[in-house]
Amino acid sequence: METPERREAGEPDAEAHNPFPWYEWMRRESPVHVDPQSGALSVFGYDDVQRVLSDFEAFSSERGRREGSSALGASLISSDPPRHRQLRNLVTQAFTPRAVALLAPRITAIIDELLDQVAAAGRMDFIEDLAYPLPVIVIAEMLGIPASGRAQFRRWSDAIVSPGAAPAPGQPSFMDAQREMAMYFGRLIAERGAEPRDDLISHLVAAEIDGQRLSAIELIGFCVLLLVAGNETTTNLLGNAILCFDEQPGAYERLREQPGLIPDAVEEVLRYRSPVQSMFRSATGETDLGGVVTRPGQPVVAWIGSANRDETVFPNAHIFDIERTPNRHLAFGYGIHFCLGAPLARLEARLALEALTARFRDIRRVPDAPLRWMESSIVYGVKNLPVTFTRA
Ligand code: HEM
Repeated sequence: METPERREAGEPDAEAHNPFPWYEWMRRESPVHVDPQSGALSVFGYDDVQRVLSDFEAFSSERGRREGSSALGASLISSDPPRHRQLRNLVTQAFTPRAVALLAPRITAIIDELLDQVAAAGRMDFIEDLAYPLPVIVIAEMLGIPASGRAQFRRWSDAIVSPGAAPAPGQPSFMDAQREMAMYFGRLIAERGAEPRDDLISHLVAAEIDGQRLSAIELIGFCVLLLVAGNETTTNLLGNAILCFDEQPGAYERLREQPGLIPDAVEEVLRYRSPVQSMFRSATGETDLGGVVTRPGQPVVAWIGSANRDETVFPNAHIFDIERTPNRHLAFGYGIHFCLGAPLARLEARLALEALTARFRDIRRVPDAPLRWMESSIVYGVKNLPVTFTRA
């Protein structure tokens, strides 16, 4: 039987860019699957994925915390209640749809600046020129990170989102990236402690839970989480949108004619090519999951990318349909850990697609230009995406 590990080992028909046939097979043949070697449990169907993501009593997020003293391990994504709620309360205000809507004019200005630089050329690398810089600039400005620090971020977040991959020459390893980021943020946190400004880092430094400030490692964890979680994921959402439009003749033109459909199209990209394909939990005890009883401490993988193609929930799940409704995808997770940055990611994607469709009559992948895919079973997207376009 084909197992998650075999796929990661590079089975020919199960490469990073097309895990979908494998998901379909697993949903049909072994929807709750225990890997005989590692003992890890994987779930592939919509209901089970939703349950694993949201039932925090049976499936803990504290995996990272137990595994060592990494900054991300101390952050809210790796916390269970009651600590999770306390940490989340510190930042929810900054990320509500109403709060992020105030950023729209600035986000539009950044998009216009980035597109101005390439508009005359009629071609760009969509990732390098738009999809990567946009979310980094936005979150860095929210956190209060000086522009000079940004060049480092890609190296770090690439290493952090692909912990299994061997680092490319000159690139830091997962542990080096964690260390370098911790040092960088440690310095910035000290500076903001001494001289607060109107930014998220200063806000977090001053925040108290039951009269207690966050520890240094918790503060660093917050910064790393916001930077990493907000970066590659939104980059991939934008890149994946172009991949979807390229495959679906007429979709881009339709959005040009009817920009009101853009928010629905963004939701469909999130479902169809989910930027986060899987999330991890660990079983707290013995729980029945589709007839399999978990054991305490057992790693559990919720395959979001598979749930979002589950035919029992999404009719014609294998078809990209910008008018799909309802679209109850799980791309941002479900329950108490539901993505904090979802309103921001949705806003950035909408504004970017509005700008693209207003400015460019078409946008096409350069035929035969090889794509480099992220080497990860967690994040899904491309590292480069050469495109050509015609100005409207
Ligand atoms: C398309 C873009 C994005 C996708 C697909 C995405 C996906 C996700 C998913 C699936 C989770 C749930 C994790 C879990 O259940 O363990 C999550 C959590 C989170 N995301 Fe996002 N995310 C995106 C953008 C962002 C942005 C822009 C930010 C912040 C600037 C952000 C910050 C977070 C944080 C802080 C959490 C943890 C929430 C918690 O544990 O309570 N994300 N995200």
